Amino acid sequence: MGFTPTESIWFNGRLVPWGDAKVHVLAHGLHYGTGVFEGMRCYATADGPAVFRLDAHLDRFFQSAALYELTIPYTKDALADAALEVIRANKLESAYLRPIAFFDAATLSVWTKECPVTVAIAGYPSGAYLAGGPDRGTRVMISSIRKFDNAAIPAWGKACGQYINSVRAVQEAQRHGFDEALLLNSRGEVSEGSGENLFVVKDGGLLTNDVDAGILMGVTRASVIELAKGLSIPTRVGPLSVEDVLGADELFFSGTAVEVTPIREVDGRVISEGKPGPITRRIQDTFNQAVRGQLPQYRQWLSFVRQAVTS
Ligand SMILES: Cc1ncc(COP(=O)(O)O)c(C=O)c1O
Repeated sequence: MGFTPTESIWFNGRLVPWGDAKVHVLAHGLHYGTGVFEGMRCYATADGPAVFRLDAHLDRFFQSAALYELTIPYTKDALADAALEVIRANKLESAYLRPIAFFDAATLSVWTKECPVTVAIAGYPSGAYLAGGPDRGTRVMISSIRKFDNAAIPAWGKACGQYINSVRAVQEAQRHGFDEALLLNSRGEVSEGSGENLFVVKDGGLLTNDVDAGILMGVTRASVIELAKGLSIPTRVGPLSVEDVLGADELFFSGTAVEVTPIREVDGRVISEGKPGPITRRIQDTFNQAVRGQLPQYRQWLSFVRQAVTS
């Protein structure tokens, strides 16, 4: 998912040309990973582009910031407007949006209290994230690299530095010819993908894990649980074992980048005959319609870009 440069990036309160959104090499966030970020998608709808669950993403952004005592010098409303402005200014129809806030250059001490906070929101056109993608499904390796423990770094926060764990896992998976890694936590339970939550389909229902498993509490995960309820597909939330995964009828990832992506293979074991299964397909179809504004009951999840201009 490489990026295609757009015209401008929202950077500390104003739009600047893409190439001018630069930071100093001594930025604290660069050295110590002291930043927080979000990933959101904007979809083309019949009523123009709309950001999916902007509110939930910005809530998590502020929660992640609070965890690291990082004060974002903008209100949630100001950042919501900024996100819509990025879409509008760059004439994007569908896009991936990346808000980030980090401690900037002032000291190389580990503590952050002297550091100013820089905030930016970039947006660019974006397609499927994982090889195989939502249509064919992806191939996954159970990583030898464990997920960090909540007691060290709470996985529910979305901080920059913690992704070094995901990077190692996905590097290992790709080195072994897989598309994505599935990480176990320190108890040996299944946690999540390098950038996705996991759903097991078994006996007509869904099973997914919770915050205790060391996962990011995905906005897509929460949306899938709600969509499943609307489809009368039962969901059980609890620990996931490797046996649950290997014995699944179907498996899929959820996440902003991957949306709803079937998993067709785990460690060389074929899942659901190597094809997206029927329940995965139902969830995926409903998700795809909801994000594009085609289902009235889920339209409150969308922040429409053009409406924001006139309101
Ligand atoms: C580690 C991790 N887990 C899960 C997710 C899915 O979260 P969401 O659905 O909010 O994008 C992401 C993506 O942000 C992630 O990075």
